[in-house]
Amino acid sequence: MCGIVGYVGKNKAQDFLISGLKRLEYRGYDSAGIVTLDNDGKATLVRAKGKITNLEDKLKNNKKDDKIGIGHTRWATHGEPSEKNAHPHQVDKLFLVHNGIIENYKELKAELNEYDFKSDTDSEVLAALINSFYGDGKYPLTNAVVQALKLVKGTYGIAVVSELNPNEIVVARSGSPLVIGIGHDETLIASDASALLGHTKRAIYLNDGEVATVTANNIEIKTLNAEPVSAKVEKIETNLAAIQKGGYAHFLLKEIMEQPESLTETLRGRVNIEDGVVHLGGPGIPETELRRIKHIVIVGCGTAYHAGLLASYYIEQFTPEITVETVIASEYRYRQAYIPEDSVALIVSQSGETADTLACLREIKKRGVRTVGIVNAIGSTIAREVDGGTYVHVGPEISVASTKAFTSQVIAMVMFGLTIAQAKGVKNAIIRPYVTEISKLPEAIKEVLNEAEGTVRKIVKKYVSYDHGIYLGRDVAYPTAMEGALKLKEIAYVDANAYAFGELKHGPLALIDDRFFELALLPEGELYDKAVSNVQEVLARGGHIIAVTNVDKFDLSVESIIKINSEIKIFAPLLMNLVSQLFAYYMTVEKGYNVDQPRNLAKSVTVE
Ligand code: G6P
Repeated sequence: MCGIVGYVGKNKAQDFLISGLKRLEYRGYDSAGIVTLDNDGKATLVRAKGKITNLEDKLKNNKKDDKIGIGHTRWATHGEPSEKNAHPHQVDKLFLVHNGIIENYKELKAELNEYDFKSDTDSEVLAALINSFYGDGKYPLTNAVVQALKLVKGTYGIAVVSELNPNEIVVARSGSPLVIGIGHDETLIASDASALLGHTKRAIYLNDGEVATVTANNIEIKTLNAEPVSAKVEKIETNLAAIQKGGYAHFLLKEIMEQPESLTETLRGRVNIEDGVVHLGGPGIPETELRRIKHIVIVGCGTAYHAGLLASYYIEQFTPEITVETVIASEYRYRQAYIPEDSVALIVSQSGETADTLACLREIKKRGVRTVGIVNAIGSTIAREVDGGTYVHVGPEISVASTKAFTSQVIAMVMFGLTIAQAKGVKNAIIRPYVTEISKLPEAIKEVLNEAEGTVRKIVKKYVSYDHGIYLGRDVAYPTAMEGALKLKEIAYVDANAYAFGELKHGPLALIDDRFFELALLPEGELYDKAVSNVQEVLARGGHIIAVTNVDKFDLSVESIIKINSEIKIFAPLLMNLVSQLFAYYMTVEKGYNVDQPRNLAKSVTVE
């Protein structure tokens, strides 16, 4: 979603602001803008609707050597994407960029009735509010920011500069991330550490309720209650290569193809093949407590939710005395759900910043339930607020559609389930096959990707003209079908839905006609024959079936077959999901859409 950058130091601010905003492009946005100040405080404000290249075009006539500035990519919430709604917002001599939502902006706006608002945004209201305390700059800007924020309800990450003091940036956060990068005679601001790479590896992650006054050589952090904060300087672990395409046409293809390596990172030091056990240190739950766990609630959104759903099927297989409930965070946060005693909550999030997931985490913690994060982004808000956690370590995921994170989230959660099963004394004979397959998965993924890529690429051509797809599966293949359908609608804009095979007769069969194709996931196993009968029912009604299967003697006469050749059986659905990922990718390429930044979507959904 929206991105923030800021610069104060010895170099040209415009250069960092533009390169930083480009790094944040992947988060999704629809307009962009920057403001810089010269030594006398004179501002140059440039904003443009659409891509950053539009902003760059406008900047050609506004090149400045200014050494301080802030910038923003906006993902519209209040007010359409347009230049007037783009940030930075100017109120008199003050400029503000804002991520998040000011929930009480209407009330605040009514009180600021003397001010002539120029945009439709809640952010401009915040700028006007800060300015009402700042006025002619008699008091420090930081004080004005603090006064204003005390009146605000909602979420924010902000950066503010003023023509009256062209040496400092004031930043603050509550619910929307902000990182301060420490350079040599320069300080950089970003809503995501990836924007800082190549400039500095030393960073301070601001906490909720903190305000920082930043100059080229100084960072002073306080709470909103004026208590000084001694901030921890952390090392940014990501390297530049991890956020570049590395020869691939798109980040999405790169991220699909790097799953053998990303899953290896998830497993590193956590699997003991000889003893057939896993070891997860992160959750930090004592064995006595693990033994008592009776219920797991898994919370996530989008792909993370599907990962949780799939993991829940597996966890139930080897720990029979446990119930596992996977919930959509945006729903769960408002449900009056009862969480039984001896529960643990898994909070699943690639970015670690998703607003609804974070809200659930906070609510669940309030009820005294232990929380465990299954997170990718190191140092993210969810990672910092959970009681313990397991990083999936897949490296930066840049493409909006999540791929490599899914595979690792499923396995990380399965490993958490195995940790409980081990503590509860489940026989090693039951656990070992899971552990063995997990250890073999990276290699199997590599083989399947190599084999399937060409086949999928060819098959896709037959289905490019279809606007409707039905994904089918049952048992572990059902959540996998849901994830496959999500990928297709997210990036190829094909109306794709997933159904459990058993549900076909209860409605979806009525849809079958020449406008639809059906992608059927058919893993070997107890329910295979039943799934085949369902496929026959679709065929009998003229369906256009694409079968994805690992069954050797697959003899159904369907329109297309994608064969998975692998010794992996338990986790075959994860291999089938690679096919769905490639299918969505090549469909999107064929249709000529923007693979990495699909319309209307954002990578990290930091507003409700
Ligand atoms: C957005 C992204 C999805 C992602 C979901 C949850 O919708 O586009 O790819 O699955 O958010 O994100 P999280 O970072 O919490 O996993």
